[in-house]
Amino acid sequence: MNLYDLTTPCLVLDHERLRNNARKMKERVASLGAKLRPHVKTHKCIEVAHIQTAGQEERIAVSTLEEGRVFSAAGFSDVLYTVPIEPGKFCAAIKLSRECERLRLITDDLSVPPILNNLARRAGVRLDVLMDVDCGYGRTGVIPNTGTAKELARTIANSSNLSFNGLLTHAGHAYRAESKQELLSIAHRERDSVFDFANELRCLGVEVPLISIGSTPTVHAVDHLRGIDEARPGNYIFYDVFQATLGTCRFEDCAITVLAAIVSRDRTRRQIVCDAGAIALSKDRGPFEFDPACGYGRVLDLEGNDLGVRLDSLSQEHGLATVEDATALDKLKVGMRVRILVNHSCLSAAQHDFYHILDNGEIVSQWKRYRNW
Ligand SMILES: Cc1ncc(COP(=O)(O)O)c(C=O)c1O
Repeated sequence: MNLYDLTTPCLVLDHERLRNNARKMKERVASLGAKLRPHVKTHKCIEVAHIQTAGQEERIAVSTLEEGRVFSAAGFSDVLYTVPIEPGKFCAAIKLSRECERLRLITDDLSVPPILNNLARRAGVRLDVLMDVDCGYGRTGVIPNTGTAKELARTIANSSNLSFNGLLTHAGHAYRAESKQELLSIAHRERDSVFDFANELRCLGVEVPLISIGSTPTVHAVDHLRGIDEARPGNYIFYDVFQATLGTCRFEDCAITVLAAIVSRDRTRRQIVCDAGAIALSKDRGPFEFDPACGYGRVLDLEGNDLGVRLDSLSQEHGLATVEDATALDKLKVGMRVRILVNHSCLSAAQHDFYHILDNGEIVSQWKRYRNW
């Protein structure tokens, strides 16, 4: 089977690039002095997680309880759910904690521990809870070293059926860094803010068993992770146009493309239209602020060579590109297949149910993605 045998649009995953990305990140995190806890939110695919953990099936991070259920059933033993737990999911989390060898939850809210503890006590389970710390991203997390943060740590630690499991932070603002210097300082702050806060808590007599940090850009940039237990990059497994523009990877490292067919060509408008629109790609603007001409994805040929064409606009099932060069436009015929190198692989992959695995020009397998919450 090859790329002409697939129905378009569909997701194509380059096996060799995937394996290389997995190996390099494993080596990188080990060389920084920490353990790797890959975030499976990017791929939501068991086969990919096996490659990331090199068959050890231990630590993973998940972004939904459904991922927790699926991956623990597949044998992954230490599951960290990285969205703050809220009351509507307490019962589901308690149920999952019974199915899972080790489930870790996070919170940044003082109202959560007493209610969660009550339910856990009634259910006869003990739950591992980490405190979510804000290292400058401003999305979730307590501000380290504040009275509220210390009170939250103590409240969890003093709960009969909760174990205070440590600190988690994520420097999502690394994606907005405008220079290598700025990225490096965000990476250092991600590491140092939780390291210092953990030491302060230890001085107050609170045990901090685990410090978990990470994003793909900061793990790429940081100089060491001494004193940090684990790093949780996710996007690195596929990379994308955003990461390559940021300098976290090369364009040749990107493992995900959306296979599309050209459905229309107009010489007067100097335009082609393919069948990968907003549903197949997502409408992520990608590195728009760094590269205003990035459009919605790069058009590649089937071998992965950049044709120098960008998708300028998307509607539901249409991807439009202007092709100024008449010779290039001549070559782009209706029925021809192209591959779209996506702006944001996590969101583009989320539009699909399967990965088609490309190895040496052949489609060798189909891997399932697990959706839902
Ligand atoms: C809490 C948390 N940890 C880790 C990650 C992984 O970051 P990245 O995709 O940059 O590797 C994410 C990504 O959104 C996240 O939200």
